[in-house]
Amino acid sequence: MKIIVAGGTGVIGRSMLPRLVREGHEVFAMTRDNKFDEFLTGVGVTPVHADALDNNAVLAAFKKVQPEVVIHQLTSLGSVNLEDNAKIRVIGTRNLVDASKAVGTKKIIAQSLAFTYEPGSIPATEDVPLDFEAPNPRKINVDGVATLESTVAELPEYVILRYGLLYGPGTWYDKEGMIGQQVLKGQVKATDSITSFLHVEDAAQAAVEALKWPSGPINIVDDEPASGKEWLPVFASVIGAPEPEKADGSERGERGASNAKAKKEYGWKPIYPTWRTGFKLSFEK
Ligand SMILES: NC(=O)c1ccc[n+]([C@@H]2O[C@H](COP(=O)([O-])OP(=O)(O)OC[C@H]3O[C@@H](n4cnc5c(N)ncnc54)[C@H](OP(=O)(O)O)[C@@H]3O)[C@@H](O)[C@H]2O)c1
Repeated sequence: MKIIVAGGTGVIGRSMLPRLVREGHEVFAMTRDNKFDEFLTGVGVTPVHADALDNNAVLAAFKKVQPEVVIHQLTSLGSVNLEDNAKIRVIGTRNLVDASKAVGTKKIIAQSLAFTYEPGSIPATEDVPLDFEAPNPRKINVDGVATLESTVAELPEYVILRYGLLYGPGTWYDKEGMIGQQVLKGQVKATDSITSFLHVEDAAQAAVEALKWPSGPINIVDDEPASGKEWLPVFASVIGAPEPEKADGSERGERGASNAKAKKEYGWKPIYPTWRTGFKLSFEK
């Protein structure tokens, strides 16, 4: 299949591109400049230069490539700016969908989140509504996700990958990553908040498998939603940080998500089924 990837040079994209090439697809990666060209051509991917916020540039890229499928892994989380990220979700997604319509691209696979569900006491399934009543800053995230999801649903086929909290090499939860550094300094407390984690390789592999999945949202999270009081001491120990301080309570909506549908209906099988072993395996490599 001829595939254009938006966000192919990000932390998930870099693991996903070689997998797509290995499956025999003809792959193009949209990137803003040429600093990743050597990496891209090295893994058998053709770079296409365009800013996702520029609708004319995106359209020109799609006209050139004529893709059958677009994989949307755009984020602006490298800069840890929620508003910038909402912008890329809203405007970037709109531009990808409009360009797809213009050239007849029928399918989109898009990165979304499994932690914007409304509050509840058990891990959320895909039919739980998003948390539209949330106050800011959570609401910025919820609204951005909702717009992304409704925009991609304008195409004839769309798979919405509601990813758990990413960990593994190059993520915020790497030893050198933003959260890893805070944990090393003893700045993160172990609370009752429930998190569903996802190893970055599982995020990448799910996007490849999603080429064969039906339309709709699907939670891509590991098997073991866990409270901070459970996972943080394990994470801290693996990265050599001090024992974290404990605190009661949790933030709104921190309930985790269920991967039952992905596993039972789509046959998805995480490479790293739980953070409990995943932290150790990925950081001790
Ligand atoms: N579910 C989660 O928990 C989750 C999900 C995603 C990310 N994260 C966290 O966020 C951190 C950063 O992730 P990342 O490396 O994927 O993010 P990133 O460095 O911000 O960039 C992601 C991708 O989006 C592309 N992009 C961004 N703005 C663009 C624009 N205007 N036009 C075209 N392309 C654009 C980038 O392409 P170019 O720069 O090549 O143009 C890159 O390929 C990670 O460490 C991870 O921990 C968490």
